[in-house]
Amino acid sequence: MNNFDLNAYLSAQREKINTAIDGFLFQSIKPRRIINAMRHSVMAGGKRLRPILCLAAAEAVGDPPDDVINTACALEMIHTYSLIHDDLPAMDNDSLRRGQPTCHVAFDEATAILAGDALHTLAFEILSSNVLSKKNNSTKYLLVIHTIAAAAGVNGMIEGQMRDMAAEGHRLGLEDLEEMHALKTGALIEASIVAGAIMGDGSQKQIKQLKVFAKNIGLAFQVTDDILNIEGDPRVLGKEVGTDQARQKNTYPSTLGIKSSKAFAKKLVNSALQALNYFDNRSDPLRAMAHYIIARKK
Ligand code: IPE
Ligand code: IPE
Ligand code: MG
Ligand code: MG
Repeated sequence: MNNFDLNAYLSAQREKINTAIDGFLFQSIKPRRIINAMRHSVMAGGKRLRPILCLAAAEAVGDPPDDVINTACALEMIHTYSLIHDDLPAMDNDSLRRGQPTCHVAFDEATAILAGDALHTLAFEILSSNVLSKKNNSTKYLLVIHTIAAAAGVNGMIEGQMRDMAAEGHRLGLEDLEEMHALKTGALIEASIVAGAIMGDGSQKQIKQLKVFAKNIGLAFQVTDDILNIEGDPRVLGKEVGTDQARQKNTYPSTLGIKSSKAFAKKLVNSALQALNYFDNRSDPLRAMAHYIIARKK
C-alpha cells in the first residue's frame, strides 16, 4: 500500500478538523453554559472518523474544494449530537464517553438535550452557509445537505436508534440485526463518504463504488464497536464495556459469537477494499482506514 503512513495522516486530519470545529464553537467574552456543554462533548477527543472519511473520499475522487472541511465538521457535529442523545438516561444511560463524563452527567439532562439539538442545527447552518457562499454550482451543495439529512433522519440513523431500543431484551434475526446496524451507524458513515465524493466532483461510477465501500466499512465498524464492548479496555476505549450485554442489546457477538463476528468484520473489509479496485493511489487513505476500522482498540 505504498508505505502509506496512516497514523500521520489521521493526526494531521484530526488537527485540521479540531481547529475548524473549535472555530465554529468559540466562547464569547461572557461564557455561555450551552457552548460549554457543546464543547465538552465535541472537543472531548473523538476519533473524527466520519469527517476524515469525508475528506478522504473527496481526495480519492479528485481535487476537493477548500470548503469540504466545513462539510466534514458538520458531519462530526451530527455524530456528536447523536452520541449525546444516545447516552441519555432515556436511551443507553451511559456515564462515560470519549474518556469524559457524558454530557448529561457533566451538565444536566436538559442541557445535554439542548447541546445535542444545538450541534444538530449548527451542522445544517454550516452546510447551508456553504451553499450561500456560492454563486454557481449550488446544486452540488444542496445535494450534500440532502444526502446528510436523509442519512441522519427518520429513514436512517433515527430509525436505527428506534430499532436498537425496541429490540432490547429479545432476539433479532441476522437480517434484522444487519439492517438495524446499517441504519443506526452505516447510514451516516455512508453519507460522510458520499458527501465527500460529491464535494470532490466524483463521477456517478466513482460514487457508486464508494457506496459499496461505505456500506461494508459501515457495518464492519459497528460489528467492531460491538466486539469492543466485550473485549475493549475502558481506559483506552473511553467508554464503559459490558453495557450491551447488561442491556440485552442485539449485537453481532451476541448473535454469532466473538470469533465469527471478527471473521465477518474481516470479510466486510475485504469486500470494501475490492470496491476500491477501480481507484488510483489517491484512495490509499480510504484503503488504510478500512483496515484501521477493524484493528482499532478505541
Ligand atoms: C461510536 O462512534 C458510536 C457508534 C456509532 C458505534 P465512534 O466510535 O466513531 O465514536 P467517537 O466519535 O470516536 O467517540
Ligand atoms: C450509537 O450506537 C449509535 C448512534 C449514536 C447513532 P451504540 O449505542 O451502539 O454506540 P456506543 O457503544 O454507545 O458508542
Ligand atoms: Mg445506543
Ligand atoms: Mg450507546
